[in-house]
Amino acid sequence: MSLSLLVSSPASPTPFPRVLPERPLRAVLLGCGTVGGGVLDGIRQSLAGDVTVEAILVSRHRKGRAPGRFFTEAESVFAAGPRLVIDCLPDGELAERLLELALQSGADIVSANKAVIARRPDVAVRARERGQILRFSAAVGGELPVLETVSRVRGEGRAILAVAGVVNGTSNFVLDRLAEGAGLDTAIRAAQALGFAEADPSADLEGRDAAAKLTLIARAAFGRDPDSVTLEAIDAGTPGRVREAAACGYRLRQIAILRATNAGVEASVSLTPRAPGDPLGDVRDEENAVRISCEGGDTILLTGRGAGREATASSVLSDIRAVIAARCGR
Ligand SMILES: NC(=O)c1ccc[n+]([C@@H]2O[C@H](COP(=O)([O-])OP(=O)(O)OC[C@H]3O[C@@H](n4cnc5c(N)ncnc54)[C@H](OP(=O)(O)O)[C@@H]3O)[C@@H](O)[C@H]2O)c1
Repeated sequence: MSLSLLVSSPASPTPFPRVLPERPLRAVLLGCGTVGGGVLDGIRQSLAGDVTVEAILVSRHRKGRAPGRFFTEAESVFAAGPRLVIDCLPDGELAERLLELALQSGADIVSANKAVIARRPDVAVRARERGQILRFSAAVGGELPVLETVSRVRGEGRAILAVAGVVNGTSNFVLDRLAEGAGLDTAIRAAQALGFAEADPSADLEGRDAAAKLTLIARAAFGRDPDSVTLEAIDAGTPGRVREAAACGYRLRQIAILRATNAGVEASVSLTPRAPGDPLGDVRDEENAVRISCEGGDTILLTGRGAGREATASSVLSDIRAVIAARCGR
C-alpha cells in the first residue's frame, strides 16, 4: 500500500474527479491544539491562496476563537461542505466517527491521528475505491518521511526485512528527563508543557502509540498488519532502570521493532539500554530515529524531530500541499 491513496483503477467508482478547478480548496480543521494550531498558522503563512479553512472544531469556545469559524459541534463544521478534512483531534470515538463522516462526505482527508488510522484499515481501502485522497504522513515520525521512504523502497521492489526505531518523541523526552534525575510525574508534565505529550499520555508511555505507528509502517512495508505485538510500559520502575543503564554509560530507550519472520510480521515495543554511538540511543529529547533494513544488507537511517507543534504541523502541511497539487494542479 502506498501512502498517497489516489485511485488508480479505471474500474473503480470515482464520484469525485481527480483535478477540481476549485481553488482555494475549502477545508475544515478538526482540532486546533498543538498540531491543529500549527497547521492553521502554516496555512495562513504559506497556503493562503490555495486553502481556506472554513470551519474549525474545538471542544470549547474561548477568547480569540471567532464564533462562526470555531464550532463545538461537528455537524456545524461539516455543514461548510469541505473538499478537504484535516484531522488533528485526539484519538477516540469522536475522531473515528468524524473520519467516517469525512469519508462519506467525499472530501479528501489529511490526518495526524495515527491511532484511528491504524485501527481502521478499511478507511484507506474505501478512500481508494471512492477516489478520495487519504494522507497521514504526520502519523509516523513527525517530520521524518518514514512512510514515504518505506513505500518508496517497496515500490522499487526491494524487500524490507525489519524496521527499528525510536518513534515516540514523548517517551524519549521523558526518558531523557529521568536520566537527568527528574521524577516520572515531573518528566511527563514537562513533556505536556512543551506540547509533546497529550493531556492523557498513557498511549505514549504504555507503548500503544509506538505500536500504532508500527502498524502503519507494517502496512506500507509488508502490505499487512503485524501478526503479533508485545508492549512494555514506562512506569514507576523505569527511573531505576534508567539509572542502572546510565551507570554503564548506556541510555534507556523505548525501541519499536517490526520484523518479517517465517511466522509472520512481529511488532514489539520495549525499553532497551543502548550504547553510545548507536543512532537509536543517541536521539535526544523529542527526536526520532528509524532504521530500515533491506534485503542485501542495505540500511536506511532517518533522524529528526518526531513530535511537537512544528515538526508535526510541517508533515501535515506537506500532505495538504500534495492534495492541492492533485486537486488544483499546483
Ligand atoms: N503533539 C504531537 O507532537 C503529535 C505528533 C504526531 C501526531 N499527533 C497527533 O495529532 C493529534 C492531535 O494532537 P495534539 O497534540 O494537537 O492534541 P491537543 O493539543 O490536545 O489538541 C486537541 C484538539 O482537539 C480538540 N478536541 C479535543 N476533544 C474534542 C471534542 N470532544 N470535541 C471537539 N474538539 C475536541 C481540542 O479542543 P480545545 O482546543 O478546545 O481543547 C484541541 O483543539 C492526535 O491524534 C495526536 O496523536 C500529535
